[in-house]
Amino acid sequence: MPLIERVLDRTECTSLAAHRERGGGKGLNAALRLEPSAVIALITASGLRGRGGAGFPTGVKWATVAESAALRAPWVVVNAAEGEPATFKDRQLLRMNPFKVLEGALIAAHAVGARRMVVATKSTFRRELAALRRAIDEIEAERWSTEVTIEVVEGPSEYLFGEETALLEVASGRGPFPRVAPPFRRGVEPPSTDGANTASTAALVGDEPGADPAALVDNVETLANVAMILEHGAEWFRQVGSEASPGTIVCTMSGACRSHAVGEVPMGTSLREAIELIGDGPLHTRVIGAMSGVANAIVPEELLDTPLTYEDMAAIGSGLGAAGFLVLDDRTDVAAVAAGAARFLAVESCGQCEPCKRDGRAIAARLASLDGPTPDGDDVRELRDRLSTVANGARCSLATQQQVVVTSLLDRFGDALRAGPGRPQGDLVLEVLPIVDIVGGQALLETVLREKQPDWTFGEHDSGSAPVDLWPRDDMGPPLSVAEGNQQAAKAIAGVHDTMPEAMRPLVALTDDLRHDLDRLLGPGDRRDALHDLRSRLDLYVDVMQRIVHPLALRVAPGDADDAAWNAELSELRAEHMARIDEQGPFDDRAVTELVERVRSIIDGDESRILSLLEDRMDALEVDDLGTGVSEALTTSQRS
Ligand SMILES: Cc1cc2nc3c(=O)[nH]c(=O)nc-3n(C[C@H](O)[C@H](O)[C@H](O)COP(=O)(O)O)c2cc1C
Ligand code: SF4
Repeated sequence: MPLIERVLDRTECTSLAAHRERGGGKGLNAALRLEPSAVIALITASGLRGRGGAGFPTGVKWATVAESAALRAPWVVVNAAEGEPATFKDRQLLRMNPFKVLEGALIAAHAVGARRMVVATKSTFRRELAALRRAIDEIEAERWSTEVTIEVVEGPSEYLFGEETALLEVASGRGPFPRVAPPFRRGVEPPSTDGANTASTAALVGDEPGADPAALVDNVETLANVAMILEHGAEWFRQVGSEASPGTIVCTMSGACRSHAVGEVPMGTSLREAIELIGDGPLHTRVIGAMSGVANAIVPEELLDTPLTYEDMAAIGSGLGAAGFLVLDDRTDVAAVAAGAARFLAVESCGQCEPCKRDGRAIAARLASLDGPTPDGDDVRELRDRLSTVANGARCSLATQQQVVVTSLLDRFGDALRAGPGRPQGDLVLEVLPIVDIVGGQALLETVLREKQPDWTFGEHDSGSAPVDLWPRDDMGPPLSVAEGNQQAAKAIAGVHDTMPEAMRPLVALTDDLRHDLDRLLGPGDRRDALHDLRSRLDLYVDVMQRIVHPLALRVAPGDADDAAWNAELSELRAEHMARIDEQGPFDDRAVTELVERVRSIIDGDESRILSLLEDRMDALEVDDLGTGVSEALTTSQRS
C-alpha cells in the first residue's frame, strides 16, 4: 500500500493562492453556508478523532464548547506545541501547509461561535513560526477571517506546554503547569501581572459573573482534516480507515529504522507496514518493538501487525498516541531506551503532584544505575513499588505515561534492562529526546536536554525543588542547537546544502572542503598534512564568518546572534587545541577526535543558523549581498 496524501502535502504551500489551487478555501466556504450546529453535526458524522494523542471525538468536543457560547464567546486554540520524543508530524504539517490548519481552525471558530483564535507554538520553532505568520498575514489581508482575530503565542520549550490546560496557562501569561479545570470549563485569561502560578486555584468558567470564556483546544493534525470533511463530506472521509477510527494518520518514524521521516497512511495500516513504508524498515535485521513516543506501552515484535487504529492499539494494551514511533531493532540497547524515557518524563514533570515528581525521579535514577541483578532483586522491587504510586493523585497524564511506559519495558525485557556486563543488551543507543528537525533522513535531537535538571535548571546539580516552585525564572535554559553532540545528525545536515540559494555556493564549497579535511584527519592518511590543510582552511572560514556572515546575521537578527560565544569558542580551539596537537609529536587519538567534533559542531551550528536566517529573515537583496560579500572575502583572504 503506498503512502497517501490527504492531510500532509508533499510539497510546501507558501501562498494563499497556491493553497486555493490545491482546493483550499472550499471547506471554509461550505462551512460558512451552514449553521454552526450543522457543521458540528458533519464533523461528528465523519467520526474525526483528535490527533493530539487521546483520540477524543472532535465533534463531541466542539458541541460541548459550543454550549458555553451562550454565556460568552469561546476561544479556539490551535495546539502546535509538539514536543514528545519521536514526534515531528505537526511541524511537518505546518511547514508543508499552514493554510490548511488555519482554515480548519476558522471553521472550528464558526462552529463554536468563537471570535478569537490563538495559535500556540514554541518560540524555538522558527521555521514554523515564520510560515504561520506569513499565512496569517495573507489570510487577514484577503479577509478570510473578518469575524475572528488571530494571535500567535510563543511558548517555552517544556514538554508540558503541549498539555492542553498548561497551554492555556501559557496563553494566559503564566508557566506551563496543568490545571484541574478542563478547557471547556476554563479558557484563556488576561495575563496576570504578579507572575504567580494560579493553575490550581482559579475558578471554572461560568461559576461567577464575569468569568473568562471557555476554549476549544485542537491539535494541528486534527484541524488539518477539517476543511476536507466540509468540502467532500463525512462519507468521503470514511472511505479510508475503520468504523471507529476513520481517515488517515500522519506518522513519524525514528530510532532504529533506515530512514527517519513523516508520512501519512490510512488508519488501519499495520504498524509493521508503516515502519516499512515511512521508515524504510529496520536499521539492522529485525524490529523488536516500537514505542508511540513516551505515552504508551511498547508494541512488541509479535504484535507489530496490529492495525494503526485507536481501538486496535488499545486492544493490545497500548495506544496510538501522536503516532510518533521510536523503532527498536535487534541491536538496540533497551536498557538505554528505558532509562532515557524515564529520565525524560521525570525531568519534564512539573512537580505540582508530589508522587509524579518524587517517584519519577527515583524511577529514572534506578533505571540509570541498574548494573546487574542484586541477589534479592531489590532494585526491581523498588522500581515496581515506585511505579505503583507514581500516578497517585496525578493532575495530568504525564505521571501515567511514566507508569505505563516503564512497566511495559520492565515486563517485556526484564533482565535486559540491567545494563551491566554479561547482560543481554544491544550496542545501538537510542536517545529518548524530542526531535528538533529531520534532515536527510536523520532526526536531529534536542540534545541540550541532556543537561536539563529535574528542577528545570541547566546547572550542575538538581536542587531537589519542584519546577513549579521555582517558576518564573530568568534562566529559561540554553537555546537549542541542532548540531550539538549528535554526530550522526551533524553528518546528515550536510544534505541541507541543496536548499542553499545559488548566491551561497562559495560558502557551501568552503564548508564542504572543511568537512573533507575533517574526514581526512580521522582517516588513514598523513595526519600532519591533513591538520595543516585544516588549519589554513579553518583560518579562511573564520575570516569569512567574522567579517561578512556574522555582521550580516547581527543586522538581520540582532537578538539571535551570539558572536561573543562563537568567537570565544573558536579562539580557544585555535589557540589551545590545535597548537597542542601540533606540538605533541605522536598524535593523541582522543584529542584529534575531539578537535574534529568541535569544528564540526561549529560549522553545523553556523550552517543551521544561516539557513534559518535565509528562510525567515533575509530578503532576496540581503541574500545577494551575503553571497557577494562571501565571494569577495574569499578572494581577498586567499590572495593574502
Ligand atoms: C504531557 C502532555 C503533553 C502533550 N503535548 C501535546 C502536544 O504537544 N500537542 C498536542 O496537540 N497535544 C498534546 N497533548 C494532548 C493535549 O492535552 C490535548 O489532548 C490535545 O491538544 C487535544 O487536541 P485533539 O483533540 O485535537 O487531539 C499532550 C498531553 C500531555 C499529557
Ligand atoms: S501529573 Fe506530573 S506533570 Fe502532570 S501536573 Fe502532576 S506533577 Fe505536573
